[in-house]
Amino acid sequence: MADLAVVLLLFLRLFSNSKADGDFDVRRHLSTVTRYGAVKDIVDDLFIPSDIPNGCTPIHLNLVARHGTRSPTKKRMRELENLASHIKEIIKNAKERNLSLQKVPAWFHKWESPWKGKLKGGELDIKGEEEMYQLGISVRERFPDLFNEEYQPDVYPIKTTQVPRASASAVAFGMGLFSGKGSLGPGRQRAFAVTSESRASDTVLRFFDCCQTYKNVRKKQEPAFDKLKEPILTEITSSLLKRYEFNFTRQDISSLWFLCKQEASLLDMTDQACSLFSPAEVALLEWMDDLQMFIVKGYGKSLNYRMGVPLLKDVVQSMDEAINAKEGNQVPGSYEKARLRFAHAETVVPFTCLLGLFLEGSDFERIQKEEPLDFPLKPPQKRKWRGSTVAPFAGNNMLVLYNCPANSSSKYFVHVLHNEHPIPMPGCGGTDFCPFQVFKDKIVQPHLKHDYDTLCNANLDQPQPKPETGKLSQLFRWLFGWGNDDTSCHRVEL
Ligand SMILES: *[C@@H]1O[C@H](CO)[C@@H](O)[C@H](O)[C@H]1NC(C)=O
Ligand SMILES: *[C@@H]1O[C@H](CO)[C@@H](O)[C@H](O)[C@H]1NC(C)=O
Ligand SMILES: *[C@@H]1O[C@H](CO)[C@@H](O)[C@H](O)[C@H]1NC(C)=O
Repeated sequence: MADLAVVLLLFLRLFSNSKADGDFDVRRHLSTVTRYGAVKDIVDDLFIPSDIPNGCTPIHLNLVARHGTRSPTKKRMRELENLASHIKEIIKNAKERNLSLQKVPAWFHKWESPWKGKLKGGELDIKGEEEMYQLGISVRERFPDLFNEEYQPDVYPIKTTQVPRASASAVAFGMGLFSGKGSLGPGRQRAFAVTSESRASDTVLRFFDCCQTYKNVRKKQEPAFDKLKEPILTEITSSLLKRYEFNFTRQDISSLWFLCKQEASLLDMTDQACSLFSPAEVALLEWMDDLQMFIVKGYGKSLNYRMGVPLLKDVVQSMDEAINAKEGNQVPGSYEKARLRFAHAETVVPFTCLLGLFLEGSDFERIQKEEPLDFPLKPPQKRKWRGSTVAPFAGNNMLVLYNCPANSSSKYFVHVLHNEHPIPMPGCGGTDFCPFQVFKDKIVQPHLKHDYDTLCNANLDQPQPKPETGKLSQLFRWLFGWGNDDTSCHRVEL
């Protein structure tokens, strides 16, 4: 009997493991390198979206989107070429010493980076164009009342950062949104305007780029973050070393994970670099990336999202104007119906935090009390904070302003969609459909006491703490980012 039970138990374990592995799709676990289509429809099953009451109509849409899938940046392409030469070196060395390379995957022997010799990087990929084009089409289909009007640049302003992958995303989106409405070519396309602020002064969409305090803090966090990553990479490096009997370094493992993400999202290839890692290892690497996103772009530090206040103000101002137009019975064509913005993970992630999305339990209250949040839980524990959901390629937030004339307590509501699905706002009692005044008072207002210039440049005037070398003061410097060693407006890669 006991034996049978053990066999049964073993069988069940085997079965459940293989089932879990079978369900595992690495393309959904690539943090911010995940493609939109792979994760768009993954939603929290426990959340029941609001029914929009009859008689409520959308009158304005705010979109804040990340650019679509893009090719790796130049720096990362160089990293892959270094990986290729390091692999060659180890193989050559092993062959000279007549060592067995039996366990090494066959593709290792003649692998070259698919991006070898490419001179430019970071541009919108064809898959990214398709994502943005489809997003344009689905937004139009979802809100026919908003897009039933003749195109006018002031009715549907399209704004992008001055970075080619973002502006190309804006164009692809516009082509979808207005397809069939013009007279150009067989697709009856039409021309539309896409505008950008100068990179050097774009505080609405590239607030991270000119925020001196942020850049100082981010730079100082790098060594601390590398320390945090170290044990994870060490653990995985030693497992792979055993599994493949190959002398990988930590840097190789980090580059192979990067390669896995690029292969899976850009080339739809999951049986090469990705197959080196077990699902549990992928989950750890994914968590490592998500942790970085938390610390340098998300809830990990209030400055990360508070510097996005100019964007939040821009969103609320557009809603106020839409309400004024409605209340004033202005003629169609004279007021804005959608403000469409195309930017970066560095824009979308902080904006998501300003709205208070993806928070756990009592996190919203903790933020209000200015208490720091815990790190997202390590797998296999569950967490809401995932790069693949918060900011995949083409990841987006839409704030749809509704007019509900029949409601006695509130005539205007804000419906929040993340990646096109309703999402709860802890700041509005956990609903996705928030009375406009409550949205303003509970979610927006607390952030408005922070002024961009004060946050981003104030430290330049404040007295600096005396330089000390003690551990505590170093930690302090790391936490508060004191110091102003860098005053130019460098680009941050994203
Ligand atoms: C890996 O390195 C160890 C120690 O340096 C060495 O003994 C071993 O032969 C190397 N293996 C290969 C495959 O290069
Ligand atoms: C490796 O093997 C070849 C023959 O298979 C032999 O000629 C050579 O001496 C060996 N080299 C070493 C370093 O053992
Ligand atoms: C008005 O909106 C509130 C939500 O703020 C809702 O609870 C209430 O049922 C609505 N009233 C009507 C008459 O639709």
